Amino acid sequence: MYVCICRAIRDREVDAAVRAGARRPVDVFRACGKSPQCGSCACDMRERIAQTVATDRAAAPNLLAAD
Ligand code: FES
Repeated sequence: MYVCICRAIRDREVDAAVRAGARRPVDVFRACGKSPQCGSCACDMRERIAQTVATDRAAAPNLLAAD
């Protein structure tokens, strides 16, 4: 599923960026080598980031303890 239509960034790319340390939409864009265009995806991207962080924390609480 696309999170950002303008730059064709999929949910799995957001997840990969989060696992590489991204915590804000701008971090995800940077990790994907893209820049935001319209910005309307920011809310959905923030939600996806939070969801991925929470899921990963639940799965491996000690790995992300430093966040
Ligand atoms: S939908 Fe992401 S910049 Fe437009």
